[in-house]
Amino acid sequence: MTTEYERYIRTEALLTLQKTADERVCHDELAFQIVHQVEELWMKLALEELALAERLMTQDRINEARDTFSRVHVLMGLMGEQMRVLETMSPRAYFVVRAALGRGSGQESPGFNQLLACPPPLRAALKALLARHGVGLLALHRDPSLRPDLFALTEAMVDVDEGFQRFRYRHLSLVRRIIGGRTPSLKGAPAELLEHGVKQVLFPELWLVREALFRDFVPGPSLEDDEAGGAH
Ligand code: HEM
Repeated sequence: MTTEYERYIRTEALLTLQKTADERVCHDELAFQIVHQVEELWMKLALEELALAERLMTQDRINEARDTFSRVHVLMGLMGEQMRVLETMSPRAYFVVRAALGRGSGQESPGFNQLLACPPPLRAALKALLARHGVGLLALHRDPSLRPDLFALTEAMVDVDEGFQRFRYRHLSLVRRIIGGRTPSLKGAPAELLEHGVKQVLFPELWLVREALFRDFVPGPSLEDDEAGGAH
């Protein structure tokens, strides 16, 4: 008989989502499969939270939106940290698992690809929110006390952005450790190409505004406010 806990958590279904010991090509395949599954679950939750953050911003619920981004930041931290489990796998064991993977690649991760599609609506929601409150991004950064709530919101978004970059960097470190930096990958592209992804940002205007602010303090060629997301 199943317990209430088992029915609620759906442990039976959950724990049959991994290959059985007989089906596995090697001992480490269970760790490989579980880490990927857990990462997909955290990404599922992060996507729900980001969708909520967008709705909250459109409703001017600034502090709640900030808290939602803070949760996503925690999730990004876990996603990066959990890569460490696979650093305990030997390169040799990975090649055995990889042979069973066929043409499968992390590039096909539905959660990751949906996360990459998140920024445009979030950026639009932030832009509209700032416009409704009559505050420019640069003005807000020049004087956070103008609107501490809006400033804290943008900082929480920067945390998420940085967390995502860290996750990608942790993955790149794992890849280098397991297959080396110049080994051709499953899709024919060298793992070195992942370095480009690490440099990508989700919310460019929140990084550009820092450069604009820097110009306030350090003489140099002037940076138009427009480059910092229409800040004024
Ligand atoms: C032994 C561990 C791992 C190795 C050796 C590895 C290797 C690679 C390589 C070589 C690529 C480049 C594309 C390709 O050839 O498929 C890649 C992409 C990717 N992998 Fe992994 N991976 C590992 C674990 C993971 C885990 C645990 C995740 C969990 C989410 C993951 C998610 C991804 C994603 C999302 C991409 C696409 C990244 C991008 O386009 O920037 N990988 N991986």
